[in-house]
Amino acid sequence: MQNLVNAAEKLSNKGFLDLEIDPTLDLVAEINKLKKEKNAIILAHYYQESEIQEVADYIGDSLGLSQKAAETDADLIVFAGVHFMAETAKMLSPNKKVVLPDLKAGCSLADSCPPALFAKFKEKYPNHVVVSYINCTAELKTLTDICCTSTNAVQIIESIPKDQPIIFAPDKNLGAYLIKKTGRDMVLWNGACMVHEIFSLEKITKLQARHPNAKLIAHPECEAKILEIADYIGSTSGLLKYTKENPATEFIVVTEAGIIHQMQKSSPEKTFIPAPPDNNCACNECPHMRLNTMEKLYLCMKYELPEIILSDYVIEKGKASIERMMEVSLKAGLI
Ligand code: 13P
Ligand code: SF4
Repeated sequence: MQNLVNAAEKLSNKGFLDLEIDPTLDLVAEINKLKKEKNAIILAHYYQESEIQEVADYIGDSLGLSQKAAETDADLIVFAGVHFMAETAKMLSPNKKVVLPDLKAGCSLADSCPPALFAKFKEKYPNHVVVSYINCTAELKTLTDICCTSTNAVQIIESIPKDQPIIFAPDKNLGAYLIKKTGRDMVLWNGACMVHEIFSLEKITKLQARHPNAKLIAHPECEAKILEIADYIGSTSGLLKYTKENPATEFIVVTEAGIIHQMQKSSPEKTFIPAPPDNNCACNECPHMRLNTMEKLYLCMKYELPEIILSDYVIEKGKASIERMMEVSLKAGLI
């Protein structure tokens, strides 16, 4: 008990546990031991660092992770991803304890749509249905009729009657891509992901000139100018599948570089080139996703902190928009 009190003190204001770890500790072995002891499951997004992916029980995109969170019989869900993903897991499994290695692992896209501002925006379009990309806060989901992920977005839009006007939030790039793909005229919230907006068209075209046989694959959170030159556009799982199935041996990958770990594992004979950002830093790594580390993962499993706590109202209201998304995905054979 005293240990837990100390741990909670170390957590205050930091968002993660700040305890000394013996540097000789075999973290992989300890994490695996804790998994068994606590009947825990580690769910990791493809953008997590490779070591975390290696220790996870399931690695996936936002849709796959939601599905796993909903159906798991584990007592403890350890979410190696960002805050909105762990919130979604909590909404889908409200009776389970959900922990996130670093509470500050947020999302620039989710932050670009504050719920109070969105509520005002929504008032201007009273007859519209709200479709929100799952990369938004739990509170925004309470203002949403149906969620979508990059895997099911087209099917979600197409499930809405043609004469029904739509607001799409928060990603203007995914929204613009969906308008083009479905022919639906949607009102877009002006949000974006900092990682997917930073890719340089100029550097990518130069890279293509040096690798003329490489396929350019991009996530739909990228800007239209990048998507226009892509050979394939898809969610993280879609991109991974494409690299496995396409006979090309070189790929320029325009999304967060963490996904390359699984691409390389599945196709060791192929070459994956991370697309360059518009400056000289490693900005194709999501600074939020990368806040999670093996040390924080170990500590959060040991102390079951920091925990995701949501009010009953947010769980009930927000969950409805995710459950509608799951129904459409099931009908469309996506899950
Ligand atoms: P998906 O893995 O669902 O394609 O989402 C990408 C992303 O940006 C997650 O933050
Ligand atoms: Fe958010 Fe973009 Fe990071 Fe995904 S990659 S978590 S959308 S900031």
